[in-house]
Amino acid sequence: MQQQALGQITDVNSLDAWLAERHLNGHWRGMESRPPFRPFVWRWNDIYQGLMKAAEVVPMSDTPRRTVQLRNPSLGDRMSETIHMSVQCVMPGEFAKAHHHTAAAIRFVIQGAPGADTVVEGEPFPMRPGDLITTPNWTWHDHYNRSDQPVIWLDGLDSRLVSLGKVLQEDFPQDQQPIERPVGYSAHALARARPAWLARDHPTPPFRYPWEEAFRGQGEAEVDGELLEWSQGDIFVIPPWSWHKHGNRAGQDAILFSMSDWPTLSALGLYREEGGRE
Ligand SMILES: [Fe+2]
Repeated sequence: MQQQALGQITDVNSLDAWLAERHLNGHWRGMESRPPFRPFVWRWNDIYQGLMKAAEVVPMSDTPRRTVQLRNPSLGDRMSETIHMSVQCVMPGEFAKAHHHTAAAIRFVIQGAPGADTVVEGEPFPMRPGDLITTPNWTWHDHYNRSDQPVIWLDGLDSRLVSLGKVLQEDFPQDQQPIERPVGYSAHALARARPAWLARDHPTPPFRYPWEEAFRGQGEAEVDGELLEWSQGDIFVIPPWSWHKHGNRAGQDAILFSMSDWPTLSALGLYREEGGRE
């Protein structure tokens, strides 16, 4: 299209075209609208079957992590705008190589076994069902399975939140990092309080929270009028600023494991919450 000289432009549409040619945009045209973030449920049976098939057809030599990522159809390539989740499997005798990155992660163990460990900064953290293990940002971590059964866990990372600039990641010089601390070191040496003299070297120590029966049952979540029914192992996401409530019509207790970005958003002064509306 023939460009008009600015001096000849007398209407807003022509001005918009002139600006667009220069990768500029008038605010009167509004900001680029993003697709609405919708709730979604991923079924455990799909995740599990896909992961077990991956264990057959994807050797660890072909991937740094054998994970199945959760992708929200309303967002394309991500589960949410801030938190990334995937489900990981390490088969008997395998290990996932050591690396570190700016994203912090939690590991919520779905299927664990004696002999399976996540190693964080040289310290093994046993992986038993229901355990929660943290790998704070920039800590070296690798996972290995010396048991005789698959070990499966939920990975939760703040990678989308901390990738405002660029995600930094590098591999450890060797495939596995050396074990330099005994099991339980962080819990015993650092406890839940952080000694002031360790603050610089250990900004956030890794932890293992051993739980049993940390998730079970079935229920439903109503999100902005949409009903999401879930049963054990299913994973669902609730978009921010959505009215939501949880229900359980079954005759037994249900326990949900949840991961939220509210501590970070709160620290940044961005968290808002309203309650009480039926
Ligand atoms: Fe990692």
